[in-house]
Amino acid sequence: MKKVLIIGNWKMHLNVAQSSLLAARLHKQITGHRDIEVVLAPSLVALQPLSTQVDRRRFRLAAQNAYQKDEGAYTGEVSFHMLRDLVHYVIIGHSERRIYFNESLDIVRDKVSACVRNNMTPILCVGETAHERANGETKQVLHDQVVSALSNLTGVEVANIVIAYEPVWAISTFGGKIAKPSDVAKEMAFIRHQVTELYGANVSKHTRVIYGGSVDDHSARAYLEIDDCEGVLVGGASLNYHKFAGIVDRAYRMNREKDDKEND
Ligand code: PGA
Repeated sequence: MKKVLIIGNWKMHLNVAQSSLLAARLHKQITGHRDIEVVLAPSLVALQPLSTQVDRRRFRLAAQNAYQKDEGAYTGEVSFHMLRDLVHYVIIGHSERRIYFNESLDIVRDKVSACVRNNMTPILCVGETAHERANGETKQVLHDQVVSALSNLTGVEVANIVIAYEPVWAISTFGGKIAKPSDVAKEMAFIRHQVTELYGANVSKHTRVIYGGSVDDHSARAYLEIDDCEGVLVGGASLNYHKFAGIVDRAYRMNREKDDKEND
């Protein structure tokens, strides 16, 4: 059984001391569950201290971004190569990076390759804007983002990655409209279908597809109930330890209910 993935993207919030405090509170609130994987994505400066603070059996770490070249004269950048051994995951192609930092399809593809080449797992974010959705371009956008981001990977590598469907209009930063789980379900099925078309069903059944966009402890369950949804990527609510622990708790209860049904 695949583990349910619950990722907290702290974005550009919390300094090192605040990050450490939040991690300590999460330690108290969240007990380890064998079928749930909890991932924390603090700012880059908090990664190193958190890597020694957190119990790696309970929390894995993710970087929010990295640079695609391994090393060189790129003032201000931190490479995937430098993050090796520090983090398990790197978030790539988040809409804030695509929109505010002009990350093109080619840049996202190169970052995905650099991440895999350096033995970390990409959390590839894809999603359409409100404008693209209104114009009926959602499928085309998702197709282009998925196909181009994966184009340098082998089937084995694709089986290992995480794809987060994050409709831009549902992310709190960009308006945070609540996406209907039935709409989300369609797009997530489409994303998996794209992976199947490219790499076959044997690969796509292993690729983890998760949802992100204004998820909190109240809405998490509805998204986690979607057939193709194997986790959630949480922004705003991950900064509140009650809410974030609440999301992990929802996932835990759902798993127990499933187990109970199977044992009946
Ligand atoms: P949000 O952010 O939960 O605050 O909408 C999600 C994300 O940006 O990954």
